[in-house]
Amino acid sequence: MKEIVLKTEDLCVSYGQKKILKKINTLFEKNKITAIIGPSGCGKSTFLKSLNRTVEEYGGNMEGKIHLNNVNIMDMPLQNLRKSVGMVFQLPIVFPFSIYNNMIYAPKYFGEKKEKLNDIVIKNLKKTGLYDEVKDNLKMMATKLSGGQQQRLAIARCLTVNPEIILLDEPCSALDIKNTANIENMLLELKNEYTIIIVTHNLSQAKRIADNVIFMDEGQIIEEGNQNEMFDNPVNVRTKEYLMYMRN
Ligand SMILES: Nc1ncnc2c1ncn2[C@@H]1O[C@H](COP(=O)(O)OP(=O)(O)OP(=O)(O)O)[C@@H](O)[C@H]1O
Ligand SMILES: [Mg+2]
Repeated sequence: MKEIVLKTEDLCVSYGQKKILKKINTLFEKNKITAIIGPSGCGKSTFLKSLNRTVEEYGGNMEGKIHLNNVNIMDMPLQNLRKSVGMVFQLPIVFPFSIYNNMIYAPKYFGEKKEKLNDIVIKNLKKTGLYDEVKDNLKMMATKLSGGQQQRLAIARCLTVNPEIILLDEPCSALDIKNTANIENMLLELKNEYTIIIVTHNLSQAKRIADNVIFMDEGQIIEEGNQNEMFDNPVNVRTKEYLMYMRN
């Protein structure tokens, strides 16, 4: 049976008078990768950012409901929500500190015991395959890592506070094929432990890693479902057109 972790009900988001998301109703399955696809400007990033309320930091106004394990996220302390629903952006954001200090930043902020920090660093760097590459250089400035390594560090850092859901907004768009493959393989591993929601422009990427796909256009969900069904047999004419356009 499907286990649902996150559910939106008539989610609407606007920036000032401009309505961006128009009644989004959907479900996200636990330990699955859901890819959100759709044309530029259709509201994918806005949707992703609404799932942990970061959209409000950008001036977005949210209406409707989002339930995380049956609790309305509007009723949760913001800190708990941001801990449970972590986010990674298109360009890796590493802090201008050492790799080690990047990794302990959030746990320390949340009051983690000092003696546990080392283990947290090692465990989460291992999850992203970065540990062997950096174990002898943990004091090195994180900004000296390669782009692909920085993106893996950003993901590892997001894991340090034990999120349940990870949101990724085009995490590979600035990376080459090898680094993209690294991240994709890592996400396939991570989904055993986390629920992953990823925005991507890359249909081949969605095909390689996603269980479920949501196709959006003009602030609405046009079609969604299992990735094989969506890619092989899209029902809606707009989905068909978009897939055709993106494949050519
Ligand atoms: N902070 C903001 N203030 C006002 N309008 C915004 C803001 N952020 C986004 N928008 C508008 O909301 C709409 C949706 O933007 P969004 O970034 O969600 O699209 P997207 O699907 O992620 O596009 P892309 O594929 O290009 O990243 C666009 O018209 C954009 O101009
Ligand atoms: Mg976007």
